[in-house]
Amino acid sequence: MAIRSATDVFSEWATKNKDEGMERGHAASVKAMLELAFPNLPTPYTAVDLGCGNGWVCRLLEQREECRHVVGVDGSEVMIEKAQTLGQGEFHLARLPEWRPEATFDFLHSMEFLYYLEDPAAMLKMIHAEWLNEGGFMVAGVDHYLENEDSHGWPEALDVHMTLLSEAQWKQAMIDAGFSDVGIQRVAAKDDFVGTLVMFGKKDSN
Ligand SMILES: C[S@@+](CC[C@H](N)C(=O)[O-])C[C@H]1O[C@@H](n2cnc3c(N)ncnc32)[C@H](O)[C@@H]1O
Repeated sequence: MAIRSATDVFSEWATKNKDEGMERGHAASVKAMLELAFPNLPTPYTAVDLGCGNGWVCRLLEQREECRHVVGVDGSEVMIEKAQTLGQGEFHLARLPEWRPEATFDFLHSMEFLYYLEDPAAMLKMIHAEWLNEGGFMVAGVDHYLENEDSHGWPEALDVHMTLLSEAQWKQAMIDAGFSDVGIQRVAAKDDFVGTLVMFGKKDSN
């Protein structure tokens, strides 16, 4: 069977309102990721969410006084249609890594997106070089990683490409991309879930 594009699969999910379950399922991890990020952001800040789905994290950030502007980017038509219906924010229907932003940001967030790419390490390099302001901060979470054995069957189950990296490989990819103060930790572990692997780092000012 041919491998399906992740964005087609997530458009189907959005049509069936499965984005709402995903939002609930990711909420605890995203909360922990934002708590990690907030002390590292300037005031005010601009933000972007890569692989934003229905835009729920953008809407969370919009409510914060210190967030001046937030942009969501996703390659799924139905997800972006939903995002545009649910709020007034700026959303772009765009395939990554090909699409580039017109402006750079103080904060880049991404939840459960990076491993759908053929080369997530190259995306991290692009984020550092082309998406972030000097002094900017990025945080990303992934649930499909080597140490989470329960996630290994997901590519076959969904018939979608996913890049499987270990904790150490994600950390090295962040360092190789040029980030400083790189951290990696698991958040929101519960029962038999080993937790979302969260990577974060800063783009130094020159
Ligand atoms: C698992 S969902 C996560 C959505 C959202 N971050 C959340 O937590 O609810 C992954 C999202 O990444 C998007 N995506 C996957 N590959 C993409 C690509 N190459 N370019 C743009 N978006 C992509 C999908 O369309 C989908 O909305």
